[in-house]
Amino acid sequence: MSSKKTATLTFSDGSPSVEFPIYEGSVGPDVVDIRKMYGQTGKFTFDPGFLSTAACDSKITYIDGDKGELLYRGYPIEQIAQSCDFLETCHLLLNGDLPNRAQQKDFTYRVVHHTMVHEQMTRFFQGFRRDAHPMAILVGCVGALSAFYHDSLDINNPEHRHISAIRLIAKMPTLVAMAYKYSAGQPFLYPRNDLSYSANFMRMMFGTPCEEYEPNDVLVRALDRILILHADHEQNASTSTVRLAGSSGANPFACIAAGIATLWGPAHGGANEACLEMLDDIQAQGGVERIGEFIAKVKDKNSSVKLMGFGHRVYKNYDPRAKLMRETCYEVLGELGLQNDPLFALAMKLEQIALEDEYFVSRKLYPNVDFYSGIVQKALGIPTSMFTCVFALARTVGWIAQWNEMISDPDQKIGRPRQLYMGPVRRDVMPVDQR
Ligand code: CMC
Repeated sequence: MSSKKTATLTFSDGSPSVEFPIYEGSVGPDVVDIRKMYGQTGKFTFDPGFLSTAACDSKITYIDGDKGELLYRGYPIEQIAQSCDFLETCHLLLNGDLPNRAQQKDFTYRVVHHTMVHEQMTRFFQGFRRDAHPMAILVGCVGALSAFYHDSLDINNPEHRHISAIRLIAKMPTLVAMAYKYSAGQPFLYPRNDLSYSANFMRMMFGTPCEEYEPNDVLVRALDRILILHADHEQNASTSTVRLAGSSGANPFACIAAGIATLWGPAHGGANEACLEMLDDIQAQGGVERIGEFIAKVKDKNSSVKLMGFGHRVYKNYDPRAKLMRETCYEVLGELGLQNDPLFALAMKLEQIALEDEYFVSRKLYPNVDFYSGIVQKALGIPTSMFTCVFALARTVGWIAQWNEMISDPDQKIGRPRQLYMGPVRRDVMPVDQR
């Protein structure tokens, strides 16, 4: 990276000023390179929550939060959602460009020939309670994949990294469907490689050995869109976790398990589950009539109630994924004859009221992808507790692409943040009867 501009930091305590290079990205805010700051000044920067910190450089995904724009490798999400399927999106994120026909065929062949999990894996499930949260099962099972693929765990070998990426993308639908089948007490279904990625997943989720499952094209396309929209989102909490875990040299399965654990939280991937529960609650208490009361609670500083599916650290405008998800909502509900679905009507009314309310307007809080994704997933027949697993399945490609980008970087270093220590200064341990 070369720098044409510099930034000068001056101190009020008489310490000499220091100059730092400024780098320009291809688009988006410049960054001030403060890597030498501690060496030159003996001071750290302080940025809990990474509000102003770019933790890496990346060529994968770009978000312009003010414009409400999302690009995967330069392509607008709207065009990808319209013209590509999920596996093409995976190829794009992993390899840098959309596949041509031959590459598409080859990539699909590689993925579908890794969809089965080791038969021994099925035993892991028996160790969980039937009512275990499927995300708990997923964290455990994905981490456990490390124990099965000793042949390709050399992270310094690009071939090994590629095969691990393909294995993860291929096996996630199988594992997610197994987590669901286990909770439902139904037999696991083996993958079927003649089906598309999303159709295969839906069959493993909703089929049984008793009768053949007929995928519905509109619903398969809707699931594929959910996967595309959640595939990557630059340096969010789970992706940063994957990068941090990976920076120590941990194997990719362990790193993705760490990402899944981070995704689980309601401020991140768990928001789709929390959002649907919120809509269900409002509906149970009287529906549209009770929105005013609910919004008042959200605005009350003394309550911890949030409007789930609203707000985003980066988007200060409508999340473009939310628009696409709302469009999919119409399609799916129309296909299923559920146009008058009360939850969808409630969500749209809630959105309208929130977007006109000064509290949300002044804070630039808009619907995010999770506001409508729960309604679509519910209509597809996916139970609420599985929503975040579907998100994890979709995000796996983003995590592994970001992990691979980091490991391929010759300047990569272990991630090791510093701190502002506010605890006791050095003191001596006293004998127990003198404390
Ligand atoms: N409902 C009510 N108030 C909110 C909300 C919300 N959903 N989101 C933010 N605010 C308020 C917040 O209380 C704060 O108000 P004040 O300035 O008076 O203290 C202000 O808006 C700024 O919020 P923040 O918490 O400082 O913003 P953040 O960037 O730290 O948090 C967020 C972003 C996504 C965690 C937060 O908006 C949130 O918790 N939203 C609900 C959960 C959700 O939908 N998450 C999914 C995100 S999209 C999918 C994904 O990437 O995983």
